[in-house]
Amino acid sequence: MSQKLQAVRGAHDLLDSTVKRYRYIVETARRIAAYYGFEEIKTPVFEPTGVFSRTLGDASDIVTKEMYTFTDKGGDLLSLRPEGTAGAMRAFIEHGLQRQLPVKWFYEGPMFRYERPQKGRYRQFYQIGAELLGPEGGDADVELISLAQNLLNALGVAERTYLEINSIGDKESRDLYRIHLVDYYKQHESHLSEDSRKRLSLNPLRILDSKDKNDIEVNESAPRLLDDLNESSRTQFERIQKSLKDLGIAYSINQKLVRGLDYYSHLVFEFRTHALGAQDAVLSGGRYDGLCEMMGGSPTPAVGWAAGIERLSLLMLEDPLSTRPVALIPVGDKAERECARLAHELRGRGFVIDLSYSGNMSNRMKKAVAHRALGAVIIGEQELAKHVVTLKILDTGAQSEVKRQNLEAELAKLFNQ
Ligand code: HAM
Repeated sequence: MSQKLQAVRGAHDLLDSTVKRYRYIVETARRIAAYYGFEEIKTPVFEPTGVFSRTLGDASDIVTKEMYTFTDKGGDLLSLRPEGTAGAMRAFIEHGLQRQLPVKWFYEGPMFRYERPQKGRYRQFYQIGAELLGPEGGDADVELISLAQNLLNALGVAERTYLEINSIGDKESRDLYRIHLVDYYKQHESHLSEDSRKRLSLNPLRILDSKDKNDIEVNESAPRLLDDLNESSRTQFERIQKSLKDLGIAYSINQKLVRGLDYYSHLVFEFRTHALGAQDAVLSGGRYDGLCEMMGGSPTPAVGWAAGIERLSLLMLEDPLSTRPVALIPVGDKAERECARLAHELRGRGFVIDLSYSGNMSNRMKKAVAHRALGAVIIGEQELAKHVVTLKILDTGAQSEVKRQNLEAELAKLFNQ
């Protein structure tokens, strides 16, 4: 027996209302990003593996466990992108955009991570993201958070999220903190989980956001990163907090928020939720001042975030409203041809037309109601002979005869009510 062909585990088909929701989320994000002066970019879904392995961190989960990496027929080592920031920075350097700073980019598209699939976590998932290259840390970070907050408001999900921020400081502060942290963990090594013991030499900061019960206990008295921030890192973080307050954006500081990728410095933040179980991160980001240099470009401060479209969609309680159609219902062969012509004409003028092909009148009416049609235009032998249509307003049941030449104006009236 041949094997059943199925979608790859953790990848999913998007059908019906899911597609509508995704499109709505992307369109809303694109519109709001434009209010902030962000231009859209599209980078390839695959890149040379080095774009990710050199930037996200040798010890990060993404690079060590989650990348879809393959050698193509030409022998090049490539990876499907697990996130959008490294590719955007690669494009920034490749196109010599240094002279055009600030660069403000919005993007959307699929990302790929070999993670254990569960609700809100997939192997192919979709992100929207925003990256702002050029400005130093401070007001630009708050502008990015303001964009995120306005987006969550517009999608109607803001009240199911809360914002957490932290500063992981500049390299000097982090190096000092790492020494203090490793010292502390060494004293408690036997209590740490096996994973965390491995992380101790590679990436000790990641132990802070471990979900393991023993690690959580050890972390309770761990040294605090904020205590090791040098003067300039501390000033930057304080300025951000003051601006957030000025804008009325609520936040709390989570000292254990360190994020999983190596390119971050200074501000890191996450809009989280209690509504999605373990997958609590909805929109995450931070500052990545060192990334450009890491990839061979000139030092360029930058800040950005990305949000998982699936998680945003799960948080939306209602389907977005789509434009309501007008149903065209022909009765008889001749009317069918006339309706096809009329549908072509009305669609050309921007009306959404639901052309009903078959079934008896009552079924076709039921379908029109199910599709939330605003009105039904019925054309039979009699209507054809008199150059009229029967227009039924589905919300009220009112029915009238409308002259063909007045139909468009009547429909426009109906939509404007
Ligand atoms: P990230 O935290 O790895 O950051 O991912 C951002 C968001 O993508 C998460 O908050 C989550 O909503 C979603 N996400 C991540 N993994 C999955 C998954 N397996 N299934 C479904 N959704 C997922 C980044 O990707 C950074 N590039 C963000 C950034 C932009 N930092 C600076 N600029």
